[in-house]
Amino acid sequence: MSGKSSTSKGSPRVVRTLPALARALARWRARGEKVALVPTMGALHAGHLALVRTAQRCADRVIVSIFVNPTQFAANEDLGKYPRTFPRDIVELAKLKADLVWAPAVETMYPPGYATRILPEGAALAGLEDAFRPLFFSGVATVVAKLFLQCRPDIAVFGEKDYQQLKVVTRLARDLGLATRVIGVPIVREADGLALSSRNRYLSLSERAVAPLLYRVLADCAKQIAVGGLIGPALNAGRATIMEAGLVLDYLELRHAETLAPMAAGNGPMRLLVAARLGKTRLIDNVAV
Ligand code: PAJ
Repeated sequence: MSGKSSTSKGSPRVVRTLPALARALARWRARGEKVALVPTMGALHAGHLALVRTAQRCADRVIVSIFVNPTQFAANEDLGKYPRTFPRDIVELAKLKADLVWAPAVETMYPPGYATRILPEGAALAGLEDAFRPLFFSGVATVVAKLFLQCRPDIAVFGEKDYQQLKVVTRLARDLGLATRVIGVPIVREADGLALSSRNRYLSLSERAVAPLLYRVLADCAKQIAVGGLIGPALNAGRATIMEAGLVLDYLELRHAETLAPMAAGNGPMRLLVAARLGKTRLIDNVAV
């Protein structure tokens, strides 16, 4: 990797306007530096930081975007109370020596009169998250396309935590002919298996004690299927365990790991995905089979 200037030491540069972003990018490009983007909505935890580390291994410069994207939240969802911890996020990114934080205002991303949405198909219509959050992937695709066009990264890093999202943005970059390679990073978990999520802070103590059950069910079910157990009964037993623990199950599904198409028989790469509500908190998780 090429040498970095002293501006990459200390706190990352926080950029809030498109002209300032363009100037920073132009300087890096002029030096031939490879740029990676890590899109986030902030409230950073060790899962996000793992993406930043992967980005740093793959590129000379790392941009972390922090933008709570209103177009991916439905009216009944948690946009208003989504955790915002910007000063702490900057401290964490400074420790990692991230180069730049792209933190546009909502009006910068969506100026008055803004009227365009991208409607992804394929994996975005797999009947998983899309069945419960119908506007979600058009909001994600719209903001990710805008972030890719604003930052023109060589690489963009996403977590497998949001597995369907990872497939949707990988396809988006390809379909729009963007010169950005999308890289997926494995899920970072708590010691008890719970996948790290900005929304875990919504959990009460008693809910937090129940939450790791989701990963246990995924791991159990995946093991049964991997050793040749019948898929239907394994999934039904998993669904029952989740509901008996008091969660409201949205789905527990075995899908083709690339297309996310339903799988009846165990041929091809498989992914087991779950979404369930625990009190007011919606949790998602997935494992390879
Ligand atoms: P956010 O939920 O902040 O997540 C940002 C990135 O961090 C996503 O790629 C997500 O998959 C990854 N991530 C979250 N928890 C993780 C974990 N435990 N292990 C590994 N990676 C994890 O996803 C979004 O924001 C938004 O939809 C966004 C892509 C930024 C568009 O607005």
